[in-house]
Amino acid sequence: MNTVAAYSIKGGVGKTAFAVNFAYACAQLGRRTLLLDLDPQGASSFYFRIRPPEKLKGRKLMAGKQPLLDFVRESDYPNLDILPAKLSFRHFDHVLAEANKPLAQLRQLLKPLAETYDLAVVDAPPNLNLLSENILHATDAIVSPVVPTPLSANTLGQLTEFLEEHLAERTPEFLPFFSMVESRKRLHRDTMCDLRAQYPAFLRTIIPYSTDVERMGLSRSPLLATRPSTPAAKAFAQLASEILRAL
Ligand SMILES: Nc1ncnc2c1ncn2[C@@H]1O[C@H](COP(=O)(O)OP(=O)(O)OP(=O)(O)O)[C@@H](O)[C@H]1O
Ligand SMILES: [Mg+2]
Repeated sequence: MNTVAAYSIKGGVGKTAFAVNFAYACAQLGRRTLLLDLDPQGASSFYFRIRPPEKLKGRKLMAGKQPLLDFVRESDYPNLDILPAKLSFRHFDHVLAEANKPLAQLRQLLKPLAETYDLAVVDAPPNLNLLSENILHATDAIVSPVVPTPLSANTLGQLTEFLEEHLAERTPEFLPFFSMVESRKRLHRDTMCDLRAQYPAFLRTIIPYSTDVERMGLSRSPLLATRPSTPAAKAFAQLASEILRAL
């Protein structure tokens, strides 16, 4: 099983939009896919119209006292299941701080999934806390949306520094991509040029800024499922192929 995390220290950069469309694209390609919504906001769960089960408790789940597979739900699409998020997932850090191996707890919890799934996609909340570190330690690839502005460049520097310092022994693929790009803006064009020169790992595919992506909140389904011929959907499909090639 491959594990891919949609992760950035920054909020609102397109992690969930990516995770939802990537998970859908992979499932369409025949991979048995599980999307784990680990963000208490539950945006991925919202897009797939999946409500978390009453019995699911954030603390118990992260402590390993509730088997993760018990709370996985089928989506409306073949090969694609979801672990829906709950507000109680906000307690994850407290549990992790008390775990035997505070950095490896999530990796441990994901192990049994390998029997059922080819791919686990983690929709991570923004931040750099203990949960983030667990996610970084559990994944084969960190896919990180970057909006091409100077502030994002700064955050990207912080993340790469962190990865070099703390994940030197077990380095996951670091795959940043440009998100919410407005090509008519010179600042975006110039920042992309600078960042590509600085970080050769940047994926070639660019996700444009598009109202079609925002409309996913109305359709509550992946853009690739509802409007696959839109430029943004085509970009998500291309991005998925590029990532699968990199794994
Ligand atoms: N390519 C895009 N074009 C236009 N709007 C977008 C695009 N990608 C995401 N958005 C919108 O921007 C907002 C944030 O996107 P999203 O939820 O995917 O980001 P996020 O990084 O997961 O945020 P958070 O850190 O809160 O989890 C949403 O309203 C979404 O509809
Ligand atoms: Mg999100």
